[in-house]
Parts: sequence; C-alpha cells; structure tokens
Amino acid sequence: MGGFCASVWKRGTPFISIPTTLVAQMDAAIGGKTGINFRSGKNILGSFAQPTAIWIWEGFLKTLPPRILKAGWVEGYKHALLYGEELLRKVEVCSFTQPPSSDLLRQLVEVKWHIVQQDPYESQGLRQALNLGHTLGHVWETLSLRTEAPLLHGEAIAIGLWQEIYLSTQLYGTSSTILDRLTDKLRREKLLIPLPPHTRALWEKLLLQDKKRRSGQLYLPLLREVGQVELQPVEIKYLWQAVQAYREMVE
Ligand SMILES: NC(=O)c1ccc[n+]([C@@H]2O[C@H](COP(=O)([O-])OP(=O)(O)OC[C@H]3O[C@@H](n4cnc5c(N)ncnc54)[C@H](O)[C@@H]3O)[C@@H](O)[C@H]2O)c1
Repeated sequence: MGGFCASVWKRGTPFISIPTTLVAQMDAAIGGKTGINFRSGKNILGSFAQPTAIWIWEGFLKTLPPRILKAGWVEGYKHALLYGEELLRKVEVCSFTQPPSSDLLRQLVEVKWHIVQQDPYESQGLRQALNLGHTLGHVWETLSLRTEAPLLHGEAIAIGLWQEIYLSTQLYGTSSTILDRLTDKLRREKLLIPLPPHTRALWEKLLLQDKKRRSGQLYLPLLREVGQVELQPVEIKYLWQAVQAYREMVE
C-alpha cells in the first residue's frame, strides 16, 4: 500500500521498502507490484513501482505471531515448487511456525528476485509462474473478506495452491506425489482450511475478474513438475471440480 501511494504521489515519489512480515520479505516487497483492494476485488487499483532499496532483516520475524508466519511460508513453499526439488525438500522439513534460517530466506527471496528481473512487467509470460495458486486463492481471499473471519493472504493462497496443483494433476498429468506432499504439509501445519461461504454464481463472478483473463478465457500457471510451470487456458468447469475435490478432502 505504501508503494502504491508513493507511485501516485506527484506522479511518482522515490521510496524504500522495509518489509517486516515473512510474506512481505519473500514476496510482496520484491518485484514492484503495488496495489490496493477496491470495491469487489483484490488489487484492483495498482501500479508497477520499484523501490530504490529493499531492506530485509530476519530479526523482524522473531516477533511475528505464528499464524502470520505460517501464512508467509505458503509463498515460500510456492517459490520452492517453482524452483526445484532440492529447495522444496528444505522447505518441507521446516516448521512453518518458526522463521526460516537466514540462508533459506535468502534463497527463497532470490527465487522471486530472479524471475522478476527477467520479466519485470509480466509481459513475457515468465512472471506469471509466480501466480501459481493465486487465481483461485484471490477468490477465496476476497470471499473471506466479506465474513467476520477473513483469511490471511497466505491462508487463501494455501487453498488456491492445493486446488491449482490438483488441476495440474487432472489436466496435465502432473505426478500425484506432488499433490500428496502438499496435502501432507498443509495438514501438518493446519493449513487445510474450510472454504469461505460462497455460491457458485458469486465464486464465478469473482473468478472472472482475474487479470489473467484474455478474450473471455482464463489462463492459469499449472505445474508440470517441480521447477516447471506453464500458462494454460483452463475452462471454468475444471476449476469448479478442483473446488469440489478440495471441499471433499477438507470435510
Ligand atoms: N505485491 C505482491 O507481489 C504481493 C505478493 C504477496 C502478497 N502481497 C500482499 O501482501 C499482503 C499481506 O502482507 P503482510 O502479511 O505483510 O500483511 P500485513 O502488513 O497486514 O501484516 C500482517 C500483520 O502483521 C503485523 N506485523 C507486521 N510485522 C510484524 C512484526 N515484525 N512483528 C509482529 N507483527 C508484525 C501487522 O501489524 C499486521 O497486523 C496481502 O494483501 C497480499 O495480497 C502482495
């Protein structure tokens, strides 16, 4: 929000970022996407604005409540899925209620850093890999914001990540072992969260606001294997099937 305000103040004012949560250090502060929620959706008003500097200090993480720490780890898990098996194993053995070691934090920050350096404005398809889990995750986050028990961003992304990896196994033939590992980790961290109240019509309306929609068609980054993501057109009926599969698993 600070970055967005700086980017519109007098048509752009220099700023530095000092992220103090895990999700902000590994993800939100890196890459220059700024924005605020508006009317019915997440990040409807926004801009690309690069800070002059980003100061990441792991000491901030010591005072984070466990729930906020856990939600931050979800983006770290996603970065590891995008990067490769070795990093994924390192993340899997960490307890999400503890901060990462400074070495691991640096590696997870660098995953995002390298991707956004190559495709700063999401114009070459590379950066869209970072949206893994976010098409559906944003819908759950938006729906939850209308309730008395809003989800944290990372909690909603945990739901979206599971559903989009499920889709990858169904549409792409991705190994179900990846989904089993994710399910196991989310279960152990108590991140298999019930879906916020919704109707199919409202869910679909929010889904169709997604910024990755082109000519009426939704495109999602799907995971072919650990370290390999591709943007694919996906029909809404398959997304709904993934929602049902998640509901059945959680209930
Ligand atoms: N722009 C992007 O690329 C990007 C990527 C990921 C997430 N996001 C966005 O980031 C937002 C979530 O960020 P967040 O988790 O930093 O949220 P936040 O800023 O709302 O912080 C969560 C809570 O933690 C508290 N807090 C912050 N630092 C603390 C510390 N060191 N010790 C104790 N408490 C502390 C805050 O006061 C707040 O109550 C979401 O809106 C999400 O959409 C953006």
